Amino acid sequence: MEVTVLGAGSWGTALGRTLGGKGFGVRMWDIDAPLLAAMTAQHENARYLPGIALPPTLRGEPDLTAALDGADLVVLAVPSHAMRRVCAQIAGQLHEGMLLCSVTKGIEIDTLMTMSEVVEDVLPASLHPRLAVLSGPSFAVEVAQEQPTAVTVAARESVVAEAVQRAFHTAYLRPYVTDDVVGVEIGGCAKNVIAIATGAADGLGYDNNTRAATITRGLAEITRLAVARGANPLTLSGLAGVGDLVLTCSSTRSRNYRVGFGLGRRRRLEDIQAELGQVAEGVLNARSVRDLAHRLGVDMPITELVYGLLYEGITIEDIAAFYANRPLRSESEDHHRR
Ligand SMILES: NC(=O)c1ccc[n+]([C@@H]2O[C@H](COP(=O)([O-])OP(=O)(O)OC[C@H]3O[C@@H](n4cnc5c(N)ncnc54)[C@H](O)[C@@H]3O)[C@@H](O)[C@H]2O)c1
Repeated sequence: MEVTVLGAGSWGTALGRTLGGKGFGVRMWDIDAPLLAAMTAQHENARYLPGIALPPTLRGEPDLTAALDGADLVVLAVPSHAMRRVCAQIAGQLHEGMLLCSVTKGIEIDTLMTMSEVVEDVLPASLHPRLAVLSGPSFAVEVAQEQPTAVTVAARESVVAEAVQRAFHTAYLRPYVTDDVVGVEIGGCAKNVIAIATGAADGLGYDNNTRAATITRGLAEITRLAVARGANPLTLSGLAGVGDLVLTCSSTRSRNYRVGFGLGRRRRLEDIQAELGQVAEGVLNARSVRDLAHRLGVDMPITELVYGLLYEGITIEDIAAFYANRPLRSESEDHHRR
């Protein structure tokens, strides 16, 4: 199999390494041409996965046309804000014999589309059945270290989901399949916002009870949003829902958790982000997830709180007040704002 990975950051490189390790020819493309040249020369992505050897089957290719030529599988691993632009660049070079797999998590800020919806908005309809998404609890570095990991591959067409499942399957990476694309995508994006809330509660000094409550009630509101978008609620009990949520909310490896933790310690967002050196996606996701919830009339109180913390100047003390003042309700209330 010939694979092209678009986006040579942590995740694209970890997955390219997995695919290359199976003997597939892997071409990595990115806007950062020096990064690609260094990857080819040194068999390492020193910027995003330092110290991890890349297989000789993997090389960087700065020319997009050459990168895509003859590909059987195209993996879309660019940041969510770049997905539309990159799809427009590649639209003319794809054909129906190719498999496409988005591994990017996010909801586009202006349109509130999921990543697969953005891809389908740009690419011709004949390619839509060829698209899958891969999501689930998977830190790139741990996949690159070949630690046992399970993910979900979603596609409307089962033959496409299963072909992508087989492509990524190794002794340490186990993909499950589903046809619930929107459920998988909403879970993969909205969890970043809950991770900020969990980090903030931890930063404030709360312990295990509060974290468990935030994760569980976070799952409830993510599920409400996903169901309002047509998802099967059971999808959110799976790897792309509770699996990814638990991962992101319980590890200092998560940039989103670290942003929340810093806010909980009353540090300024700008200072936390400068220290991270990268934008934590949850900061952008808080806006798009909250806007989508408003559009669909879905109650997402934790997301609302995180949005207020990031964008509306509410204080960390309001987090404590939030836990104290929430109205009493049933654990399994309906899916709409009240
Ligand atoms: N890092 C992880 O552990 C992980 C795990 C699962 C999913 N993801 C998802 O994968 C996606 C990518 O995340 P990441 O952690 O690899 O990001 P990253 O910050 O490590 O890397 C992003 C890469 O994209 C490149 N890029 C930026 N703009 C581009 C453009 N216009 N065209 C082409 N390339 C461009 C950058 O040069 C960089 O190499 C995100 O949606 C993230 O949620 C990441």
